[in-house]
Amino acid sequence: MSHEPNPRDLLDLLGIDKPIIQAPMAGVATPALAAAVSNAGALGSLGVGAMSAADAKRAIDATRALTRRPFNVNVFCHAPAHADERVEAQWLQWLAPYFARYGATPPARLREIYTSFVVDEAMQQTLLDARPAVVSFHFGLPPREVIDALRRAGIRLLACATCVEEVRRVSEAGVDAVVAQGIEAGGHRGSFDPAARDEALGTLALTRLAVKATHLPVIAAGGIMDGAGIVAALALGAQAAQLGTAFVACAQSAIDDGYRRALLGAAAARTTLTRAISGRPARSIVNAFTALEAEPGRPAIPDYPNAYDAGKALNAAAKAKGDAGFGAQWAGQAAPLARALPAAELVATLDEEIRQTLTALGQRVEPR
Ligand SMILES: Cc1cc2nc3c(=O)[nH]c(=O)nc-3n(C[C@H](O)[C@H](O)[C@H](O)COP(=O)(O)O)c2cc1C
Repeated sequence: MSHEPNPRDLLDLLGIDKPIIQAPMAGVATPALAAAVSNAGALGSLGVGAMSAADAKRAIDATRALTRRPFNVNVFCHAPAHADERVEAQWLQWLAPYFARYGATPPARLREIYTSFVVDEAMQQTLLDARPAVVSFHFGLPPREVIDALRRAGIRLLACATCVEEVRRVSEAGVDAVVAQGIEAGGHRGSFDPAARDEALGTLALTRLAVKATHLPVIAAGGIMDGAGIVAALALGAQAAQLGTAFVACAQSAIDDGYRRALLGAAAARTTLTRAISGRPARSIVNAFTALEAEPGRPAIPDYPNAYDAGKALNAAAKAKGDAGFGAQWAGQAAPLARALPAAELVATLDEEIRQTLTALGQRVEPR
């Protein structure tokens, strides 16, 4: 008999009051953001996927200093990069004129700028020692023995899925809940294999399919910006919603002025998936960098995260000359709904909107 999760299962499991998860966002979510969200009764998250184990420990400690409530620590479980020297050299050569616009030259060669959690024993040990309440996986899953060790340490585990096959794999992996990430989502798609065919399922379809395909609680992610979106996710059978873009404009996020202007201005209406920035498909506000992918004569893009080494260098060169157009301005399709509120106020607003939406729905479906 299939186990029908009780709607409060996930909240009890995670130790939170509200069905709201602030998405982990590498480079954007700060200890102050995660702690403010957790203190407001939702689940705050740190994205340590691009950090060393020592920096991750510092971020966890800094968050602990600001909250006693549960928070999530997110790691990247991609297949380690296959460094193809020819592809990387061609890519750097092709980017050289863009660097030249800003009086800069590309790096001589690309580095694998961060290690996949799958093989990062220092990070695995750091999480086992630090024991955050929740750990989440993006881009795949770590080996079973790592999952088992984290569970034995009492850590609740979440993993992202972008299609039904990934939902199945997550369900069999021994984690506690699945994050169903639709194509609307800002930032990197959590796909296990970026070279595989992508059905590009939207959040509505994927959440519903996931609820039917797994016994685990489902968390919906992608394009959810307000209480109405959260209620929609709950109506589909999700037990919580994970919001990224909605929290990017919070005062506590680490974004620069160019990103903030783009997100809160007219530019936010146009987002696109691009591999050119990092080597993996990710949704960004349309800018000079996302335009590169469609340039005629573009050579093959190196593997993630090696391509991101060039991406970050090009952004740094452009920014040094006052051009924000090469930033990784990750945002979901509903970015125009972003609000620049302090995180606690945003959580309280979302909570109030959930209530208002439920009341309005109740009135709408009552027989006249
Ligand atoms: C700026 C930004 C950075 C992100 N970084 C991460 C990350 O480090 N780890 C992760 O699992 N997801 C990351 N994501 C994806 C989110 O987990 C989530 O799937 C997405 O934000 C949901 O869509 P939304 O942005 O429309 O709310 C990021 C999203 C954004 C917007």
